[in-house]
Amino acid sequence: MKEKLELILKNATTEINNAQSLEDLDNVKLKFLSRKGELNTIKKNLKDLSDKDKRVVGALANKVSNELEELISQKNNELYKSELNKKLEAEKIDITLPSDFRPQGKVHPLTQTINEIVEIFHGMGFSVMPNEYSPEVETEYINFDMLNFSPNHPARDMQDTFYTKTAPNVILRSQTSGAQIRQMLNKKPPIRVISPGRVYRCEAVSARKNNLFHQIEGLVVDKDITFSDLKGVLNEFVRIYFGSARATRFRASYFPFTEPSAEVDVQCIMCSGKGCRTCSGSGWLEVLGAGMVHVNVLKNVGIDTETYSGFAFGMGVERLAMLKYAINDIRLFFNNDTRFLNQF
Ligand code: DAH
Repeated sequence: MKEKLELILKNATTEINNAQSLEDLDNVKLKFLSRKGELNTIKKNLKDLSDKDKRVVGALANKVSNELEELISQKNNELYKSELNKKLEAEKIDITLPSDFRPQGKVHPLTQTINEIVEIFHGMGFSVMPNEYSPEVETEYINFDMLNFSPNHPARDMQDTFYTKTAPNVILRSQTSGAQIRQMLNKKPPIRVISPGRVYRCEAVSARKNNLFHQIEGLVVDKDITFSDLKGVLNEFVRIYFGSARATRFRASYFPFTEPSAEVDVQCIMCSGKGCRTCSGSGWLEVLGAGMVHVNVLKNVGIDTETYSGFAFGMGVERLAMLKYAINDIRLFFNNDTRFLNQF
């Protein structure tokens, strides 16, 4: 018995020392110290021994199991530490490594241009019209009829205007001018507002034309408003937006909703003389349309034309941005190419 116990101690010690992992160690423990283990079998058979042997072998068996418990506990600590170290080593985070690159978004150049223009008009006492006066899905009635377009005006043609299938006479607005009507139907003069927004036209897309673009509409209605007020406001706008060195010129023009009407030109930004590609050699660039609000329009919205008069204007945001930043293709605004967008 004694030899057997010593052999158990020797074998168990070797196996404990050889254990490579906590799992190995658990198996050793199971083999030698569990209820069905070798040591316990000896303890269970003690009852068959003489009293004297019982005492000697019993004491030895206890000593062996205590010793093994101790060895296992030591080995357990050792293995636990080394496994933890291995895990920590594997999961080590190098806080000096550069982080993932997260590009930061920017305000789109068209939004920047709109903000800049709105700011200029704020400075002249204009406020921005409420959004609900300026829907992108509009009726033909507001977009054309109320603005004094004749029933067969070519701008209504399917080739210019996107018609929806939702309901008859519902279109994607072709201009922001309808916002003037909604403003005047909802609020009596004095009125001094602008309204930026998207418009749609059924056109072949090219470097100069896109079928979605942006306009800013302006409207002033009050007592004693004259063409000089219009000239003063628009000259001031062009002076601030393009810089005071640029001259402007007002050219007579035609719009159904203004009378008289004008187009405003600014001196060519990139003029290289006769062969200039930007202004075709004329020295002038058209930047906006304007005029005195037509009496028919004022009558349509129930404003007394004896007491009130007004002026209106409309400008293309893409065109203004292209001229200021020398951009030669309108499609660049809509392609979301960050090499372009990051320049602003
Ligand atoms: N709606 C016109 C267009 O899309 C621009 C315009 C011209 C607006 C004259 C106006 C205006 O308010 O008075 O071409």
